[in-house]
Amino acid sequence: MWCCSKSAQLLFDTVLGFGGTETVSVNSGDNNPGTSSSDSSKRRPDIIIDSGYVGSEVVIIKNGLRLCGTGGALGSAPLIQTKSYFEVKIQQEGKWAVGVGTRNSPLDVGPVGSDQHSWMLRHTGELYFNALSIGKLDPIPEEGDVIGVSYDHIELNFFINGKKGNISFTNVRGTVFPAVYVDEGAVLDVIFDSFLHPPPNGFDKIMKEKSIL
Ligand SMILES: *[C@@H]1O[C@H](CO)[C@@H](O)[C@H](O)[C@H]1NC(C)=O
Repeated sequence: MWCCSKSAQLLFDTVLGFGGTETVSVNSGDNNPGTSSSDSSKRRPDIIIDSGYVGSEVVIIKNGLRLCGTGGALGSAPLIQTKSYFEVKIQQEGKWAVGVGTRNSPLDVGPVGSDQHSWMLRHTGELYFNALSIGKLDPIPEEGDVIGVSYDHIELNFFINGKKGNISFTNVRGTVFPAVYVDEGAVLDVIFDSFLHPPPNGFDKIMKEKSIL
């Protein structure tokens, strides 16, 4: 992935400036680079990575849906409906974490999952909360795999390519958002719509509740 190699990162930082090209968008709320605004089939999705909740060393591209660099980021809508689901595809290996977190999650001191504000599956397969592993998931996700995350306010479950993992969090509290973390070359794509695997029965994509925004 050219987008997050160390040299490309340096280039963004020192020469072009963040968001300085047509095809790259970083922390820029409303713009929609590289696509025609009249092309409704390619319109920006409702839910993306929230540019207000991204670690300072994280690079966000692909209209707010691909993440690389170093640090954490939150999705732009909370998981408040009864049963919600989203996916993350591991485009490139590295250190990463996927799960949910509150807006109190520190995003610059990774990995997310090291405090009481986030509940995360790490690249090692372990489920982390408050810097403690509650166990190792089976199956362990690898590069190219799709991680499904389901939350019903009782259990937070992880699915690897549609197969439910054998452990889950049952202690999630507060208003939580989709949370991701990348480091050491990891590239993640967040998927909030048009899933690659069917959500579990009764679960649906995160609905944007206009009333709370
Ligand atoms: C889940 O599977 C892993 C790998 O097989 C195993 O080490 C772990 O004990 C299992 N955990 C539970 C709670 O079944």
